[in-house]
Amino acid sequence: MGKITLRFACQSCGAVYTKWAGRCEACGEWNSLAEESAVEVPVSGAKGAAMPKGRVTRLVGLEVEAPAPERILTGIGELDRVAGGGFVPGSGILIGGDPGIGKSTLLTQSLASVANRGHKAVYISGEEAIDQVRLRARRLGLGKSPVLLAAETNVSDILATLSEGEPPAVVVIDSIQTLWSPVIESAPGTVTQLRAGAEALIRFAKQRGCAVLLVGHVTKDGQIAGPKVVEHMVDTVLYFEGDRGHQFRILRAVKNRFGPTDEIGVFEMSDGGLREVENPSRLFMGSGEAPTPGSAIFAGIEGTRPLLMEVQALVSPSALGTPRRAVVGWDQNRLAMVLAVLQAHAGVNVGQQDVYLNVAGGLKVKEPAADMAVAAALVSSLTGAVIPPSVALYGEIALSGALRPVGQSEQRAREAAKLGLETVITAAGGQGKKPAPAPGLPQMANVADLVAYIAGLPKG
Ligand code: TYD
Ligand code: MG
Repeated sequence: MGKITLRFACQSCGAVYTKWAGRCEACGEWNSLAEESAVEVPVSGAKGAAMPKGRVTRLVGLEVEAPAPERILTGIGELDRVAGGGFVPGSGILIGGDPGIGKSTLLTQSLASVANRGHKAVYISGEEAIDQVRLRARRLGLGKSPVLLAAETNVSDILATLSEGEPPAVVVIDSIQTLWSPVIESAPGTVTQLRAGAEALIRFAKQRGCAVLLVGHVTKDGQIAGPKVVEHMVDTVLYFEGDRGHQFRILRAVKNRFGPTDEIGVFEMSDGGLREVENPSRLFMGSGEAPTPGSAIFAGIEGTRPLLMEVQALVSPSALGTPRRAVVGWDQNRLAMVLAVLQAHAGVNVGQQDVYLNVAGGLKVKEPAADMAVAAALVSSLTGAVIPPSVALYGEIALSGALRPVGQSEQRAREAAKLGLETVITAAGGQGKKPAPAPGLPQMANVADLVAYIAGLPKG
């Protein structure tokens, strides 16, 4: 028999300790350790007895004997693409996100679509009563679709329900934090319960060949365990993010055994639920008003898709001893680096100025290719020169001040041209096909060239 030991588990990342501490050493979260009792199953039998003799497993080759099962398409293009071309039968998928961001809405819409295509689709809600789920579906105009509902939190009951009759094609569990197994002593929402529940459901998915979608709320205060705890168990991890103040929502694949990661899907939250945004560049390019100083368009790549977005900068004299540096949607350290390079190699001095940087639309940019657009926006704000709305920028800035070419140059330029931005400013040199520099545009090899060009533009 296993013996019951006391332990402390981090509710954020799942790391286990024998002693309590104020801060989790694994993930750095404060105040996230909670006491949990765990039944430890000893690897060897009691008192060091030898392990029981195992059963021989048949070894097979890599060659496929049967064709891979067909993927289940939801018909929601953005979701299918992020999942790598639909859901793989027999896989576990985690959908994480802040509470209220729209996870239940997205999954209600996709289940309805799957059910309408004739597949068995089951929605298990642990948070809302059946009537609430129905109400949402009706509000989304999906009240008539043949999705099967249950409000249940007990894992054993859920598995028994799902095992009856024809196995479902897709199951949604909303959410893993409400799952509760009677054989485990911890409270619902603890790491132990979360792991056990997710494990049982993923095992079920593999055995029955259905796609199981687990919803996990991102938690900030460590009161209940976060979705990180089950990330390693599932095949695919998708995060649904966005600013509650904006209507845009971004679905991002951070792990995918069956498709690319870093792919994003863009949605817009409306009265009638989530709407796909097929041409997201328009969304993130600002409102299309007359151009003002401090704004530059970055031709970026998100996943496999080019995306144009507006980088906004505000540089203004500081009243503080230590000027402010505030960044939304980009890396703070990267901004510090760009500022240092501008000062060292182009003589741009912002030591006595507050600097604010914002990526429009609530998007988070991770590419270093945004360096040039950021530098351009900063110089534009500082000098009052206006970057014409027909200009898009991309390229990395090295510490030496050199402009570095980045990948997928052609794709970026093509997206810019598609949206009417004919002038592309990027680093000279590098391999691969480059867009021909626009007439009258200087060849830029150095950050000083870029600063000279921006500062020379007409003032707004
Ligand atoms: P929900 O899917 O319940 O979020 P989650 O499951 O991630 O907690 O969505 C919550 C928000 O979405 C809620 O504040 C209302 C808004 N919403 C709309 O704006 N339009 C809609 O059609 C629906 C169904 C929800
Ligand atoms: Mg919900």
